[in-house]
Amino acid sequence: MAKPKSTFVCQNCGNVTSRWQGKCEACGEWNTIVEENAAGGIGGGPQRGSLRKGKPVALMPLSGELEEAPRIRTRIAEFDRATGGGIVRGSAILIGGDPGIGKSTLLMQAAAGLSRAGHKVVYVSGEEAVAQVRLRAQRLQAAETDVQLMAETNVEDILATLAQERRPDLVIIDSIQTLWSDMADSAPGTVTQVRSGVQSLVRYAKSSGAAVILVGHVTKDGQIAGPRVVEHMVDAVLYFEGEGGHHFRILRTVKNRFGPTDEIGVFEMSDIGLREVANPSELFLGERNSKAPGAAVFAGMEGTRPVLVEIQALVAPTSLGTPRRAVVGWDGARLAMVLAVLEAHCGVRLGSHDVYLNVAGGYRISEPAADLAVAAALVSSLSGVALPPDCVYFGEISLSGAVRPVAHAAQRMKEAEKLGFAQSVLPQLSDGQRMRDGVAHEIESLPHLAAAVAGSGRRRDEARSLDYDS
Ligand code: TYD
Ligand code: MG
Repeated sequence: MAKPKSTFVCQNCGNVTSRWQGKCEACGEWNTIVEENAAGGIGGGPQRGSLRKGKPVALMPLSGELEEAPRIRTRIAEFDRATGGGIVRGSAILIGGDPGIGKSTLLMQAAAGLSRAGHKVVYVSGEEAVAQVRLRAQRLQAAETDVQLMAETNVEDILATLAQERRPDLVIIDSIQTLWSDMADSAPGTVTQVRSGVQSLVRYAKSSGAAVILVGHVTKDGQIAGPRVVEHMVDAVLYFEGEGGHHFRILRTVKNRFGPTDEIGVFEMSDIGLREVANPSELFLGERNSKAPGAAVFAGMEGTRPVLVEIQALVAPTSLGTPRRAVVGWDGARLAMVLAVLEAHCGVRLGSHDVYLNVAGGYRISEPAADLAVAAALVSSLSGVALPPDCVYFGEISLSGAVRPVAHAAQRMKEAEKLGFAQSVLPQLSDGQRMRDGVAHEIESLPHLAAAVAGSGRRRDEARSLDYDS
């Protein structure tokens, strides 16, 4: 009998080589290559041996009958928002996140919600024993629902069990790292096993019409452990994120074949599970000290929803040869750009200052529209003058110092007004965008920012003296 051929698979990117190497040629990671058995075809390409002749399959038209309503709602509005209006039948969704962030909690609550609405849900736990899952369900007041539980890690056994019963509407697999399949020969948790398990489950979802949610752990550099290929195999990828020490969690869509990818769902972890946060701005602005210099409120957008967050800057004389630039919650390269524009066009010298930038509440911003708020926070911290407490900032800064318009200006202003911010500093608006209420300081370029800040500050002083009189 021929010796079984083994291959070497990178556990980071899934690249296959014929011999062991210290460094993966494909992704450049060190010590990620593990020997795996190629028998079974997975990881080593299609199974060789008896060559099967293909058999023809029927071709189908695009129009045709849909079996049922394509989406099922979990009754957790924030979850449904992130998935684009509910879970699509027959789809596979991957939810990634750090261990302990609350993935199992979220999915147990979603399972309970669906079950209460009369859907059949099967929860497959590979990490925790039945008793542990029950305990959590009790804490989440989900124990009385009809969610069915299975503590199993073998893919073939899971699929055989599911085939026996009435087809479920949703199957939750917690987590893919514990899956193993008879078809792949390597140890559980390796790329080959994870990939083969996910493949079988995705196939099951497509053929049966049951939705499958897969839980995946995230490695320390923030990717779902195992190869990226798992992300390509599923219909939607969501990340469940949160900052250590903060109670709120964000469910963020990074891929969605059936909906938008820029929606987020916001939750707060409490002692009876995750609570939905319908108005995130209030949460992120909750502990604001509006009189401190260096803080600017940014009117941002997350998908279709405006979100107000506070950006804090600290500019302090440095004692080091090279000043420090530290950013939490924003892009370091963007900060460098804003600093360069401030130096070049506004005469703000920061070369001998350390700069720290923080987005309050552990929130993460990816929009370039935050440039203007960052610049305002930096100028405010450097000059020691607090910005007006009732003002929001948004706008993209170009290298020439011009302030460029951003999308959804009216929506941002409306949200700001709703939360009591009477003024906004923003790029120039078109006529249709102007609003009757509130003061909009439209600025053309960054040097105008200081003037706008000073102007709105004067108005604030008047307001304050009125306050004192009364
Ligand atoms: P869990 O859902 O087990 O995380 P994951 O599946 O992502 O690893 O949640 C773990 C954390 O959540 C744990 O530290 C305890 C906390 N928690 C609460 O604060 N309240 C609750 O009601 C529950 C169920 C968990
Ligand atoms: Mg878990």
